[in-house]
Amino acid sequence: MSQSSNIFLVGFMGCGKSSLGKKIADKLKFNFIDIDKEIEKEVNLSVSEIFSTYGEDFFRLKESQFLNEISISNCVFATGGGLPCFNDNMSVLNNLGTTVYLQLPAKELLNRLVNDKSNRPLIKSLSNDELLEYINESLLSREPVYKKSDIVLSRTEQNPGQIIQLIQRHLYLQKG
Ligand code: S3P
Repeated sequence: MSQSSNIFLVGFMGCGKSSLGKKIADKLKFNFIDIDKEIEKEVNLSVSEIFSTYGEDFFRLKESQFLNEISISNCVFATGGGLPCFNDNMSVLNNLGTTVYLQLPAKELLNRLVNDKSNRPLIKSLSNDELLEYINESLLSREPVYKKSDIVLSRTEQNPGQIIQLIQRHLYLQKG
């Protein structure tokens, strides 16, 4: 059982971690933190600019540092799509709180990402065909990591209200 009531939403770019995260936080009366936004504030550059100025490794370091410095509880965190897949961060997340994987099929992710690529350095210059290929390939390596989450939720089968209920039930059961 985790020590804090923090919730970490994990999943591929475009699966709705931020939008759903805010709804979950409102419902639970928790704070909401988007880790990408916190890193942008700290470095004073957008995620895209961080990648082009300092490189991906620097960004991954910032993600891990952020996790190491978390000292609050009762918070819903939206993690970047790659965060759990570097530096053993998935285990770190599982020790820090309840992890929730928001699962969506590749085609659905593609639909959501085609018009939302500009601040996503890993996909911003890809054509739609290349993007689908990138999503499929990345999911092969990333999904086994995401699936180590405490809760795996299918966004196509469960609406936001049901997702919130499932998370609430999980938190309630954890408290015993
Ligand atoms: C990334 C996902 C992004 C952001 C960065 C890298 C990834 O976050 O952290 O562009 O490696 O999948 P979102 O999942 O919020 O788009």
